[in-house]
Amino acid sequence: MPHIHPKTTPIYQTSVFAFEDLNELEQYFGQPGQSYMYTRYGNPNTDELAQEVNKLESGAGGVVTSSGMSAILAAVLALCKAGDHVLCAEEIYGGSSTLLTQELTRIGIEVTYVPNEALYTLGAHVQPNTRLLLAETMSNPLLQVLDVAKLAEETRQQGIKLVIDNTFATPVLTQPLALGADVVIHSVTKYLSGHSDVTAGVVICRTTEDVQRVQKVKMVYGLNLSPFEAWLAARGLKTLRLRMKQHSSNALAMAAYLQQHPKVEKVWYPGLEEHPQHELAKRQGRGLFGGMLSFRIRDDREVVNRFMKALPTIPFAPSLAGVNTSISYPLGTSHRALSPEQQQKLGITAGVIRFSVGIEEPEELLKELETALAAV
Ligand SMILES: Cc1ncc(COP(=O)(O)O)c(C=O)c1O
Repeated sequence: MPHIHPKTTPIYQTSVFAFEDLNELEQYFGQPGQSYMYTRYGNPNTDELAQEVNKLESGAGGVVTSSGMSAILAAVLALCKAGDHVLCAEEIYGGSSTLLTQELTRIGIEVTYVPNEALYTLGAHVQPNTRLLLAETMSNPLLQVLDVAKLAEETRQQGIKLVIDNTFATPVLTQPLALGADVVIHSVTKYLSGHSDVTAGVVICRTTEDVQRVQKVKMVYGLNLSPFEAWLAARGLKTLRLRMKQHSSNALAMAAYLQQHPKVEKVWYPGLEEHPQHELAKRQGRGLFGGMLSFRIRDDREVVNRFMKALPTIPFAPSLAGVNTSISYPLGTSHRALSPEQQQKLGITAGVIRFSVGIEEPEELLKELETALAAV
């Protein structure tokens, strides 16, 4: 075999690695992380992805998983046992609350939901068995921004860990660990991979001890990511910075356009000066506000349908963070399972539409909006 020096990491599409002899096997166990045995325990592609995200989040180490959901599962299982209690921001991704309420309670992990405005004073909610607070840098779909440094101060005082889902902000805008959080998780499916062709997750921890716990949970529960998906995600990650700049400037242009349009009742985007956490978002996001925005036309399902159908190219696809713009309808997708009272309380009404703004030329996007709004 000639000496081969590929510029990029090849795909190690193998479930198992061979050993020369028993000495090499002993070396594997004696020097953890120096070689590979079985892909469920570790693989060069998943390790590369974990290391690259860890660099961006400035952690002690990272563990990649098969989805954002399994990243949240791994983080909670690593930090909690039966009989423990978790606090969770009320405005969390629906899948996360389903995991906590419907599954983790079955194995003895209790959960209490805390409204966003009450997250900075947790005294009334913390119990002797409370282990952590799970919250998101920016909420979905109405883009409320949490002050991560302030949350970290409070969780430290209360003696619990702060776990931040940084999926919407990405480390390009916000590095929660640098602001005092203990654990960061991502749905890598979204901005980190960025091209709507990967399902993956990652957990990054502030301490080596927590990394090792998450690593153990991943191995034993079998939550690992496949080498090919890790390779695709690592490839996407290389353009994260560039993409986030374009997502953010496009979203700001669309938010400004929508805000002045007579058929639009309300726009939610942290980059608008009217947004209640605009100053915080600016500071915490290093001047970028991300690619997610929501707006409301009339609270009438038919009007929404007409708008969707009149968009010349933007598809209705209930996920987010790809290079191509897409729209979603929170009432019919992410927030479908909530009661009408909960939906009303959160402000998710029949006219709310969410844009995941892509990296197209801004003029193309404004033209789409103009065409679709003319039809309603
Ligand atoms: C903020 C957030 N966290 C976690 C998840 C779950 O990620 P995945 O779908 O990759 O399992 C999602 C998915 O939409 C999400 O939006």
